[in-house]
Amino acid sequence: MKFFVDTADIAQIKELNDLGMVDGVTTNPSLIMKSGRDILEVTKEICDLVEGPVSAEVTATDAQTMIAEGRKLVKIAPNITVKVPLTWDGLQACKTLSGEGHKVNVTLCFSTNQALLAAKAGATFISPFVGRLDDVNIDGLELIEDIRTVYDNYGFETEILAASIRTVNHITQCALIGADVITAPPAVIKSMASHPLTDKGLAAFLADIEKTGQKIL
Ligand code: G3P
Repeated sequence: MKFFVDTADIAQIKELNDLGMVDGVTTNPSLIMKSGRDILEVTKEICDLVEGPVSAEVTATDAQTMIAEGRKLVKIAPNITVKVPLTWDGLQACKTLSGEGHKVNVTLCFSTNQALLAAKAGATFISPFVGRLDDVNIDGLELIEDIRTVYDNYGFETEILAASIRTVNHITQCALIGADVITAPPAVIKSMASHPLTDKGLAAFLADIEKTGQKIL
């Protein structure tokens, strides 16, 4: 399973990328706002930093302007993926941009039917939002499972990019279901390393070596 990091924070991307934990990056208008940076500038910086796909989201709502924005975004770097919303216009933009050979990530997916349409429109990635479904008492992981089944039933090559990942359990379950990619905030990826028994065991080991008075360095 590929790990994309869901942020436009350069320092955090760099830290995870240096550890080999970053297969790609996803951004969206809210993350750009949070970064306080210029969208084109920060996106270019991210593309220079990581080898994998970097999703940059359009801001128009009509297909023609989305296509024009997408064509501008792909000029930033060869690893740009154009992110479009799952609307009828977004699907039209997806079809055109993917037809031109660009990678397209169709975002804000909340149903299996939407995922089916995105695959038929040539999406490289479909981004179902797990956490936001959980927020409204709908099982977000069930959607990942259903899309996996449908895509496998018909051999669609669109990759399932599980987004709005809020917990380490979301990541485990997405891996078990067979999502192709998860995108998560850096803090969630880092917290995958934590386990209370690791902390407890380490504290006991350190206490015991201290009792011996020995040091390695
Ligand atoms: O990739 C989409 C993601 O950024 C949305 O996450 O936590 O705002 O629902 P969240």
